[in-house]
Amino acid sequence: MKNLEEKIANADSLESLEKVRVELFGKKGLLAAEFAKLKDIPGPEKKAFAEGLNKRKAALQVHFDERYEHLKAEEIERVLREEAVDVSLYSTLAQKGSLHPVMETMDRIIDYFVALNFSVETGPMVEDDFHNFEALNLPKYHPARDMQDTFYFNDGSLLRTHTSPVQVRTMLETKPPIRMIAPGSVFRRDYDLTHTPMFHQVEGLVVDERGKVSFANLKSILTDFLHTMFGEVDVRFRPSFFPFTEPSAEVDISCIFCEGKGCRVCSHTGWLEVLGCGIVDPNVFKAVGYEDVSGYAFGLGVERFAMLIHQIPDLRSLFEGDIRLLEQFR
Ligand code: PHE
Repeated sequence: MKNLEEKIANADSLESLEKVRVELFGKKGLLAAEFAKLKDIPGPEKKAFAEGLNKRKAALQVHFDERYEHLKAEEIERVLREEAVDVSLYSTLAQKGSLHPVMETMDRIIDYFVALNFSVETGPMVEDDFHNFEALNLPKYHPARDMQDTFYFNDGSLLRTHTSPVQVRTMLETKPPIRMIAPGSVFRRDYDLTHTPMFHQVEGLVVDERGKVSFANLKSILTDFLHTMFGEVDVRFRPSFFPFTEPSAEVDISCIFCEGKGCRVCSHTGWLEVLGCGIVDPNVFKAVGYEDVSGYAFGLGVERFAMLIHQIPDLRSLFEGDIRLLEQFR
């Protein structure tokens, strides 16, 4: 029972101190062994022996507790020191992404029309013949279907070739007046400098009582829209044909690259085509059961707008996911 204080003092870690604790205070420890001797000690001496032993035990306990606190404090210090995080350490910064130029352009277009109280409608990309063609005055075997070659599924459904079917769906679901745009992806069998098999359109449709919607309304809103998107350009409406509008027009802006003088981008015409539009054909209203209404519609390609705004020469590069292109739009 000698040198026990020294044993405690020599423990240099919580682990070795734990071993000492078992050795001294454990069930089979040194103190337990001393207490076991009590039963063999004759009556008169028993009390003094027991008192002495208890005092010894209490004193050892004090030593032990002090050592424990000391080692514990050291341990905490060590953990704080070794596991500290150096917040001043350099790390690679998180990469900040950005909107894809097509989406950013789409947002700008949507914002313009939402500010004029147009609702934003959507429809399925896998369409049926009725919504994509038939209801838009494009009967089966009509040669105008050649303008929009598409991808068909075996059951006769198809990938929509334009956002115009959303016009049809909205008119079938709601009553006039209508003031809507329909942004979304569309699909065609096309692939060259200015065409990809998937691209985006924004469709517009305004319908009200007969006589309330005119070509003049269409012309003024689109002219203001194009000035908002492209700045001070000349805008020209050129007669054209769409099966679902009559009369129809294609809309050109003066070339923003050569300011109308003529260059490669505008094929030396001085003009860039940016929109299709027209007065809704009566056959379309017939297909959706609308009577005594008039309306105008327009459709535009978002990639074409993005290309012109950002002067991107090859439309296909918008879909290659090359980070070097995308980084320029942060
Ligand atoms: N849907 C036509 C197209 O994709 C665009 C358009 C929409 C034209 C509405 C006129 C009216 O080519």
